[in-house]
Amino acid sequence: MSTAQLFFEGKTIDLPIIIGTENEKAIDISNLRDQTGLVTLDLGYKNTGATKSAVTFLDGELGILRYRGYPIEQLAEKSNFMEVAYLLIYGDLPNKAQYAAFTDEIKLHTLVNEDIKKILDGFPATAHPMGILSSLVCSLTAFYPESVENPTDSNINLNIFRLLAKMPTFVGWAYKKSLGHPVNYPRNSYDYCQNFLHMMFALPVEDFHPDPVVVDALNKLLILHADHEQNCSASTVRMVGSSKASLYSSISAGINALWGPLHGGANQEVIEMLDEIRILGIKPVDYLEKVKKKEVRLMGFGHRVYKNFDPRARIIKKACDQVLSQLGVKDPILDIAKELEEAALTDDYFISRKLYPNVDFYSGIIYRALGIPTNMFTVMFALGRLPGWIAQWKELNASKEPIGRPRQIYTGLGSRDYVPISNR
Ligand code: CMC
Repeated sequence: MSTAQLFFEGKTIDLPIIIGTENEKAIDISNLRDQTGLVTLDLGYKNTGATKSAVTFLDGELGILRYRGYPIEQLAEKSNFMEVAYLLIYGDLPNKAQYAAFTDEIKLHTLVNEDIKKILDGFPATAHPMGILSSLVCSLTAFYPESVENPTDSNINLNIFRLLAKMPTFVGWAYKKSLGHPVNYPRNSYDYCQNFLHMMFALPVEDFHPDPVVVDALNKLLILHADHEQNCSASTVRMVGSSKASLYSSISAGINALWGPLHGGANQEVIEMLDEIRILGIKPVDYLEKVKKKEVRLMGFGHRVYKNFDPRARIIKKACDQVLSQLGVKDPILDIAKELEEAALTDDYFISRKLYPNVDFYSGIIYRALGIPTNMFTVMFALGRLPGWIAQWKELNASKEPIGRPRQIYTGLGSRDYVPISNR
């Protein structure tokens, strides 16, 4: 085994090098503190591998993304969301019988306890759907207490089916709540994506038929969002799960992490940014000047890991043109987005910082064309990311990894004596 050497206070410490299956290399510092009293400091974990994982591989320099070894380009073109969910969670593509058993099992759990509707009723109509979603997912711990008290393998599997099954209902209900419309109940004659569209758009006053173009586009978008290795929300799910918190509470925490504008919240911010540019009639190059002065960030650009291109963004950009033309939608913000991208990609500010469009830059434009409102975009990301979070949680839960508990460098005051309030 090769090692790296650290010289510190006259001592030499050998640190083993760990090599992944794609030849990524890491210095194993698990005994560093015992040997030297040192901890490492790596703000934002820019250089820190938090775990070993067999779920997703990505190479930010080469723009590679693979789920369980399968390239994202092939999955987005040939697979469907349920098949990809199975792949991520169980490690391999299902055969016909496994696929049928998986999708049938999910259909057994699509109904949601009616009391959860009362929780939904307690939210104001203006509540952000991400807040509703994380609350409803967390509430499942109360309806299925064995998820907390008796997390056997078979119970965990049952909870995985339940969560996959109920998520479209929660998302649809959060949307209906914001409209003040009656909620829908799941239709098990539909597949996963058809049912989701029914939950979102069916009305009691007329028939609803999911449009196959929309169903296809939705499958693609959900596949592209399904996992992304140790990002902020997946790391949150794993961190919470490492305390042996239940699947539901860990994933509820992941939903909250995803909500932030620097993570999944970016897709909503991109559309708001493009709309502002359109409404105020700002020229894309002038907007970029504001970005370069750091008055605003160009939302949907830049990525912690991708420093060349984001393969998901390439697929989504192509899909965006296709879907809009298939649906006969002309959206002026698509032209603005393309102009912004073109100008940014030839501008030294973006080139030198390796800033490229990420998955969120064009996804919102497709969501808009599918009739999904802006405040639901991040929820769509969560719906897609669910299998990835489940796979990350399941892997962590089956491992012998200890509870996540980082160290710190304390920068506060030294010891001082308590002063009674009358003397302060
Ligand atoms: N617009 C303008 N400047 C940017 C941007 C941007 N979108 N992103 C990074 N920079 C600049 C940043 O100001 C810094 O410049 P300087 O060196 O002069 O200080 C440099 O590039 C490095 O930025 P950073 O913030 O240190 O990079 P990071 O790896 O910590 O951040 C990021 C990654 C995604 C948070 C960031 O690029 C960003 O804020 N992008 C906009 C939000 C966004 O689109 N998020 C979605 C990410 S993809 C979906 C997901 O995984 O959730």
